[in-house]
Amino acid sequence: MRIITVNGFTRVVDMPDDTPLLWVIRESLRMTGTKFGCGAGLCGACTVHLNGVAVRSCQTSLEEAAGQQITTIEGLDPAGQHPVQRAWIAEQVPQCGYCQSGQIMQAASLLQQNPNPSDAEIVAAMNGNLCRCATYVRIKKAIKRAAADMRRA
Ligand code: FES
Ligand code: FES
Repeated sequence: MRIITVNGFTRVVDMPDDTPLLWVIRESLRMTGTKFGCGAGLCGACTVHLNGVAVRSCQTSLEEAAGQQITTIEGLDPAGQHPVQRAWIAEQVPQCGYCQSGQIMQAASLLQQNPNPSDAEIVAAMNGNLCRCATYVRIKKAIKRAAADMRRA
């Protein structure tokens, strides 16, 4: 049994210590915004924040996540109005949408660390987040829009 903090709420989780955080979030907490893609750290669909930094929740154990601040797409902004989310809408980024919560969490983490990323830095940071619908051009535009909005704010 472990105590975890997700989106500011403390939850008691009765699962084995080696349970991937992805399944804690989806199966125990019933929050389904975080997606399962590969389960092997190869696609980024399961990306969440651990203390503000993007991690793959399929590769993070319950034991590792306990005591840390976990943020999922549901908690990125209480009203869904994070600058990255607003930019995603403005640029109409998603196609099927499956990868997009992971993309948004990765992008938000990037901009927290680097408020003015170059094209190369965006590509490097987003490289592990795959999109079968190939929305990469719009993702890059949306990150640049969000970065500009965040610098203005
Ligand atoms: S499901 Fe975690 S990286 Fe693909
Ligand atoms: S929008 Fe379909 S996989 Fe990315």
